[in-house]
Amino acid sequence: MKTTGNTVLVAGGTSGIGLELARRFHAAGNKVIVAGRRRRLLDEIAAEHDGIEGEVLDITDDASIRRLFETVTTQHPELNVLIAMAGVMVPERVLDPGSLEVSERTVGTNLLGPIRLVHAFAPFLVEQPNAAILTVTSGLAYVPLPTTPTYSATKAAIHSYTESLREQLRETSVQVIELAPPLTRTTLMGSGTDNERAMPLDEFASETMSLLESQPDAPQILVERVKRQRFAEATGTYDEVFAMQAGR
Ligand SMILES: NC(=O)c1ccc[n+]([C@@H]2O[C@H](COP(=O)([O-])OP(=O)(O)OC[C@H]3O[C@@H](n4cnc5c(N)ncnc54)[C@H](OP(=O)(O)O)[C@@H]3O)[C@@H](O)[C@H]2O)c1
Repeated sequence: MKTTGNTVLVAGGTSGIGLELARRFHAAGNKVIVAGRRRRLLDEIAAEHDGIEGEVLDITDDASIRRLFETVTTQHPELNVLIAMAGVMVPERVLDPGSLEVSERTVGTNLLGPIRLVHAFAPFLVEQPNAAILTVTSGLAYVPLPTTPTYSATKAAIHSYTESLREQLRETSVQVIELAPPLTRTTLMGSGTDNERAMPLDEFASETMSLLESQPDAPQILVERVKRQRFAEATGTYDEVFAMQAGR
């Protein structure tokens, strides 16, 4: 994809990776709209950045997605890039009855949410020149984290969905790109942003933007840190990486 001159919608851009990439795209000369549930953050982000707008979105609610589509495409008929960033990550224990609600919410947000977004925006995007849809998976799509089984499963599913989506849109103007971040310092899963094992957000965003620029046709954006998980199966290290993630 080209990294300048786009109008980019970051669905899930109020914090973390989505917000940092929104800032980077904005700084690189793109119009940016961020969407999420937290109205206060949306207002703050828009007030701090001339050229970034905020729109409310609950990705688990199809009516909210439809409203977002109408608003954004009316106000920005040149919209050409959709980043399906929204996600939640919550630990689950299958023997705890309360965990079923977590699983269902995780599927609704991380899997059904991006699928609904794609259905809402793809027919519009195929009419735009130089369009792109970016999905967001994880290193955990390739080797699961046993404490978050549904989270890991939704990311594996989004990887699979992205492969088929790319094929279905092959003859259109829409490029389909998978971002697969490694463990990155954000507040996802309620953690602090000081986890030493996680990649600093700033470094992740810089490497990602530079890969998008240097590999404009890449189907997947893989920073160095995620390659151990991404290629674990191919390099015969799956069992070792899985055992490590299981804390064994
Ligand atoms: N951090 C990591 O280690 C890591 C690694 C691999 C992949 N990822 C993926 O990267 C993406 C961003 O995560 P992050 O680490 O940046 O965490 P984050 O700071 O918690 O960001 C999550 C974003 O998703 C939005 N979101 C969550 N539920 C939503 C809903 N129902 N409707 C609309 N937006 C919703 C949040 O906005 P609101 O709360 O305002 O709605 C927020 O903007 C996720 O898909 C995550 O799975 C993260």
